[in-house]
Amino acid sequence: MLRLSDVRKRFGKTIAVDGLSLHVHAGEVMGLLGPNGAGKTTTIGMAVGLLRPDSGSVSLGHEPGLVGSPDHPRVRTLVGVAPQEVALYDALTARENLAFFGRLHGLSRREARARARELLASVGLGDRAHHRLHGFSGGMKRRLNLACALVARPRLVLLDEPTAGVDPQSRHAIFEIVANLKAQGVTILFSTHYMEEAARLCDRVAIVDHGRLLALGTVDELVSAHGGPSVVAIRREGQADATRIETATPLEEVARAIGSAGPAIAELRIEKPDLEAVFLHLTGREHRQ
Ligand SMILES: Nc1ncnc2c1ncn2[C@@H]1O[C@H](COP(=O)(O)OP(=O)(O)OP(=O)(O)O)[C@@H](O)[C@H]1O
Ligand SMILES: [Mg+2]
Repeated sequence: MLRLSDVRKRFGKTIAVDGLSLHVHAGEVMGLLGPNGAGKTTTIGMAVGLLRPDSGSVSLGHEPGLVGSPDHPRVRTLVGVAPQEVALYDALTARENLAFFGRLHGLSRREARARARELLASVGLGDRAHHRLHGFSGGMKRRLNLACALVARPRLVLLDEPTAGVDPQSRHAIFEIVANLKAQGVTILFSTHYMEEAARLCDRVAIVDHGRLLALGTVDELVSAHGGPSVVAIRREGQADATRIETATPLEEVARAIGSAGPAIAELRIEKPDLEAVFLHLTGREHRQ
């Protein structure tokens, strides 16, 4: 559905994307994880034809009408993008914003209006349809930004940090919308810093840093390849602190502890590595700009 082949992009001396290849399959939800400045936004910009790669190629394909480069006008109507920097008109109402994007994507006035009504309801802004955006909270703008990406019923949706700076309620609402799109067979690539949601929603996760792909796979694959060992923490009666045992086979360790002599076990915990452990392992712990 979307194929980036060895794409590179530099801004002056900064190499933003450094030979990245990525293939997002039709109907798949792929997460793009990377620290600040890793090249996620630049990658998404090249995928939708907003930025031209210095080298390498981008193709959108397989479905009728979705063949060729992202610059193709027909391709553009079938791809929806919600940019990281919310791109909306403050002076317009929520409905006017949506209708504007609808018209931009070639919908008739009547279709655009109907689609606006439908989408406002689905992002929980039905009662704000006629309010101008000045008074909207960050979360409301994020949800509207997402709705604008969906106005032309795209088959491929790219979301650049769709949940940045929103409260758990809005975040939950946004991920419901992504889950619904997925159920309709829409292909989705989204960047995020929220590992838990990435882990829950994504069929596969791509971890990038310094403009390069570091790892790609299902969450389980990434965790077993890069997550490191599990930890079994056991505290026995009379012990102040738990003893922590690193192991690849935590259940065997637990069985051994239970079977062994000694004071009764007061507390027992298995800490399994998660996507965040993978992320920190691959991208390091130092702060980025
Ligand atoms: N228009 C630009 N001009 C100059 N440098 C840029 C431009 N866009 C991006 N960069 C640089 O390219 C690198 C990658 O930036 P990019 O925005 O793609 O990262 P990101 O992964 O989206 O980061 P974040 O998580 O902070 O959104 C950074 O070093 C950034 O400063
Ligand atoms: Mg970004």
